[in-house]
Amino acid sequence: MSKIKNKVVWLTGASSGIGEELAYQLAAKGAKLIISARRREELERVKSNCQSDTVEILTIDLEDNFSLTQKAKEAVTFFGDIDILVNNGGISQRDTILNTSLDVDRRLMEVNYFGSITLSKQLLPRMVERKSGHHVVVTSTVGIINTPYRSGYGASKHALHGFYDALRAEHHKDNIRVTIVLPGYIKTNISYNALVGDGSKQNRMDPGQESGMAPKKCAKLIIRAIEVKKNEAYIGGLKEKMGIYLKRFWPSAAAKAVRKLRVT
Ligand SMILES: NC(=O)c1ccc[n+]([C@@H]2O[C@H](COP(=O)([O-])OP(=O)(O)OC[C@H]3O[C@@H](n4cnc5c(N)ncnc54)[C@H](OP(=O)(O)O)[C@@H]3O)[C@@H](O)[C@H]2O)c1
Repeated sequence: MSKIKNKVVWLTGASSGIGEELAYQLAAKGAKLIISARRREELERVKSNCQSDTVEILTIDLEDNFSLTQKAKEAVTFFGDIDILVNNGGISQRDTILNTSLDVDRRLMEVNYFGSITLSKQLLPRMVERKSGHHVVVTSTVGIINTPYRSGYGASKHALHGFYDALRAEHHKDNIRVTIVLPGYIKTNISYNALVGDGSKQNRMDPGQESGMAPKKCAKLIIRAIEVKKNEAYIGGLKEKMGIYLKRFWPSAAAKAVRKLRVT
């Protein structure tokens, strides 16, 4: 029997891309699923494609931090306590440090970092009480090795590593597990939705994402990592995985390689 069956899973960023595929596969495995993002109509579409009668919609805006406490209270009204929180919702960036306004840096931190940790912090006390819970957070390869044009985005993903490494260490004794997922290039709309320096959307597909891994495969690998409660899962091409190992074991070579990258 799947380890996901009958588990209560709250998934953010479920209206497109990786999250949409995760929704389909988690539903197919018998999860009691709460799907979240801002766009209700897209969540309705995903829900109807799930072909499961245990999928509920809870709209959230990760940028609206004050609303998230109430949303976490609402989340437990559907199926009871959350077993697995999948913090997947996020936005990226495509611009230089010089061009990027501080407002954009703040927005990236608010959505990617504070949005995710707020949901985790809301659910944590009850998980500690129950001595059970699993926090999954989708960061990025750039959460280990950042590249040009992603200063604020990479910073928000680095911050997630710091927070969730501490959560894992503090609450292992409470049977609470943390899985950090680091995708490389995945073929989704992330680069369309990425913010440029003035806060508008880039509105185009990057070559990296265009030739990236299919979200279906990515979601399958994420679910496998959740099922075996992996600490970290690197999901992507050889180049991205090599980048992570280079940064960890030979940081000066990584710095040189990143300087030469042709990214936009
Ligand atoms: N694709 C890649 O190459 C790649 C690589 C590394 C990491 N990632 C990470 O993977 C995760 C999923 O991204 P994706 O590739 O699937 O991109 P995507 O197709 O653009 O999906 C992003 C998701 O996040 C949601 N979202 C964005 N801003 C939000 C907000 N303020 N409040 C609530 N939800 C919000 C979007 O829903 P709404 O617009 O409906 O709110 C959407 O469901 C992100 O954390 C991203 O950083 C992606």
